[in-house]
Amino acid sequence: MIKKILEKICNGSGILPYLLKYIIGKLDNIFNLSSTLLVMTNSSDRPNYAYCIYHAAILAKKLGHNSISIVEFGVAGGNGIVFLEKFSKKVENELKIKIEIYGFDLEDGLSKPKDYKDLKYWFKEGYYKMNKLKLEKKIHKSKLIIGDVSKTLNKFFDEFNPAPIGAIFHDLDFYHSTIDSFKIFNGEEKYFLPRVYNYFDDILGSELEMYNEFTGELLAIEDFNSENKFKKIVINKNLVTSNNEKWRSQIYHFHNFAHSDYNKYIGGQEQDYLNKNIGLR
Ligand SMILES: C[S@@+](CC[C@H](N)C(=O)[O-])C[C@H]1O[C@@H](n2cnc3c(N)ncnc32)[C@H](O)[C@@H]1O
Repeated sequence: MIKKILEKICNGSGILPYLLKYIIGKLDNIFNLSSTLLVMTNSSDRPNYAYCIYHAAILAKKLGHNSISIVEFGVAGGNGIVFLEKFSKKVENELKIKIEIYGFDLEDGLSKPKDYKDLKYWFKEGYYKMNKLKLEKKIHKSKLIIGDVSKTLNKFFDEFNPAPIGAIFHDLDFYHSTIDSFKIFNGEEKYFLPRVYNYFDDILGSELEMYNEFTGELLAIEDFNSENKFKKIVINKNLVTSNNEKWRSQIYHFHNFAHSDYNKYIGGQEQDYLNKNIGLR
């Protein structure tokens, strides 16, 4: 009941939800709060990442998996992957699932943008360098895959034999890098859940960024969808109606309609509850 009230307040907008989320975040540092509470209240440092890991793990369990993989495209300094490790530990303990983490990056920062589709007016060669030695001291189990995704993805599945991918964080900035990274979806179906959580970092931004469907990550999504009949990347509509946190419009689902598990029933007790309550009162 208390969790539900906190969820309701924290999913609203204004100063009270903001303060409450801040306090819950601080309490987490002391009491190591549950991933469920942190996701319900959007109270972690990266609620977008937390939401995707947590729900990917739930989906995986419902489909009968005991392990999943999480991928970050674009690691840079590594704050994202450090968060992924920390939060996935909570999810692993709570949901009894193993989580592998893979981070792809060039190490030397952004390469030269190729054309207008890479938003030359906003991204510059050399930005977002990684300090690999420093980062490696902070991570314990994540695998860093260094090099251009157009090459490193070619041998990724053979080299790592990853558990099914349940969530992908897209932060390669450019159209060309993002469309290259979508080659991951050509991997054998055993390497994926039938539906995968995706976060796109560069689709909402400031007045200067002006992201749109004709450049950058949004164009890559459009191109992917028009080139694939049974695989689609679509916005997660159940988040966009609630509160004004930006990230809630940046979560997408990848659907592979042809995946042999796509139609596997996962309704469980949530559907049983709806079924019981739908009758005329
Ligand atoms: C904005 S940074 C990522 C930030 C990080 N996700 C975070 O949350 O802190 C973008 C990164 O994408 C990487 N990148 C861009 N194009 C790439 C490509 N084709 N292959 C591999 N990495 C690439 C760059 O090296 C850069 O470090």
